[in-house]
Order: sequence, then C-alpha cells, then structure tokens
Amino acid sequence: MTPVAIITGASAGIGAELARVFASRGHALVLVARREARLNELAGEIAKAGHPKPLVLALDLAAPGAAARIGEALAANGLEPQFIVNNAGFGLIGRAAGLDRDEQLSMIDLNVRTLTDLSLSFIDSLARNRGGILNVASVAGFMPGPGSAVYYAGKAFVLSLTEALHEELAPRGVRVTCLCPGPVASEFQARAGIIEKTPPWPIGISATHVAEAGYRGLMRGQRVVVPGLAMRLLAMLAPRFVPRGFLLARLEARQLRQR
Ligand SMILES: NC(=O)c1ccc[n+]([C@@H]2O[C@H](COP(=O)([O-])OP(=O)(O)OC[C@H]3O[C@@H](n4cnc5c(N)ncnc54)[C@H](OP(=O)(O)O)[C@@H]3O)[C@@H](O)[C@H]2O)c1
Repeated sequence: MTPVAIITGASAGIGAELARVFASRGHALVLVARREARLNELAGEIAKAGHPKPLVLALDLAAPGAAARIGEALAANGLEPQFIVNNAGFGLIGRAAGLDRDEQLSMIDLNVRTLTDLSLSFIDSLARNRGGILNVASVAGFMPGPGSAVYYAGKAFVLSLTEALHEELAPRGVRVTCLCPGPVASEFQARAGIIEKTPPWPIGISATHVAEAGYRGLMRGQRVVVPGLAMRLLAMLAPRFVPRGFLLARLEARQLRQR
C-alpha cells in the first residue's frame, strides 16, 4: 500500500495551495472536492512538475458516507492515508435566523461532521505511517461570531476537537495540527456572500503563505498554527482582554457590513 496525503477542498484557494506544498515536499496525493475538472487540472500541473500524479476524487463531502467512500477509493487503488488535510469548508454571512437553515446545516455537515469522520477514520493507518492530521479551522474558532454564527461555532468545534486529538494521538506518534487563518482572498468570500471586490483587510495574507505555515506547523508537531503576527495577536488577545459584549457587537457590525 502506498502512503498518501488526502487533501479536501483542493479545487480552489487554500486547499489547492496545500496540495502544491505537499506535492513539492514529495508526498503522493489524493485530491478531493466536487469540481472534477479543476482537480484534474491541478493533478496535471503537479505531474508536469515531476511529482507523482495525484488521484482525483470528485465527491460531495457534505453528503452522508463521504469518508467511507474515500476509504473505499483508496483501498481500490492500493493507497493508504499517511496525512489527512481537512480543508474543505465554506462560510455564510448574515444573521442565523435570516439565513437558509438547510444551507447552515449543510455547512455543519461539511465543516464539522465530515471533518470529524475523516479525522477519526484512518488513525491506525496514520500511526503506521507516522503521519498526521491537519484540520483547517479559522481565527473565527477563537470567538463567537454574530453575523456568521454557525460558521464561527463550527470552527470553534474544529479547534477544540483538533487540540484534544493532538493530545490523545501524541502517544501513537500521530501529529495533529489546527491551522487557523485570518482573512485570505479566495473563492470563500463569494460563496459566503461577501460582495467587496478586493480584500479590505490590510492584515490579509495569501493562500500560499497559509499553506506553507500549515505544512511547517504539522511537520513540527505544533498544536495550533495562526499564520501572521496580527492574526496571532487577535486570536490570543481579543477573546481574553476585549469585553465580550463589545467584541460581539463589533464583530456583528463588521460581518454585516461585508454583504
Ligand atoms: N478564505 C478565508 O478568508 C478563510 C479564513 C479562515 C479559514 N478559512 C477556511 O479555509 C478553508 C478553505 O477555504 P478557502 O478560502 O480556500 O475557500 P475556497 O476558495 O472557497 O475553497 C473551498 C474548497 O472547499 C471545497 N468544497 C466546498 N464545498 C464542498 C463540498 N460540499 N464537498 C467537497 N468539497 C467542497 C471547494 O471545492 P468544490 O466547490 O469544487 O467542491 C473548494 O475546493 C475552509 O475550511 C475555510 O473555512 C478560510
């Protein structure tokens, strides 16, 4: 069985950059997302650069049984997971009561349920191959987010789960890292309903920078990686030192301004 790194949400943004970073470090890859043509294009680019051609799996990861389908596809191709990168995800901007409820539940299916399933499905194989799990949360995981409440709550779950798994799986030699980016220009904004054309954040960093920081942190066995000094300070200081009521009001105003 060939050990591979599985990268979810590899058809765009941070996931595509994570795939490039993992490939450049010599990992054989499995790329997962819904848009097959995009994944094939990236797989071709990686092969052209002289790396093994990634296996492409076009799947809806919000659908029930997605993790099991990945497991079956790997077994059928003689592959076994060494690293699992749970990056696929989306957000929605707006007050929770006004947003579509099914869409918010589907966000939980993808950002939380399938991420949890994939985190737990392959642990024996990750341990055997001395690999690990990189879960992509967000700085949103450090605080509640009125104006994007379900997204922020899901990312808090991912952060909490990942830190706990870091501790639980250390004795088995499995590295577990939570990558918590701040704003990154990608397709995320359009999907979330953000209409600003250019990133308004002077603190925003690139998907490439985020992917490099995540890979480095995972390989070093870091528990949490927050790329960029400004975001590290925000994640550490805002929840502890800014009065909660003030923080929530400012966050809601900022979120709703973006629509
Ligand atoms: N961009 C930011 O500002 C930011 C900040 C903090 C954290 N993050 C987190 O970073 C991660 C990646 O975001 P991004 O900025 O790279 O967003 P993006 O450019 O919109 O990419 C999202 C990826 O997720 C995949 N995806 C979405 N729904 C899916 C589904 N149902 N099944 C399978 N794949 C699905 C998309 O592929 P298909 O559409 O082809 O399925 C795409 O590859 C997310 O978890 C996000 O929450 C982003």
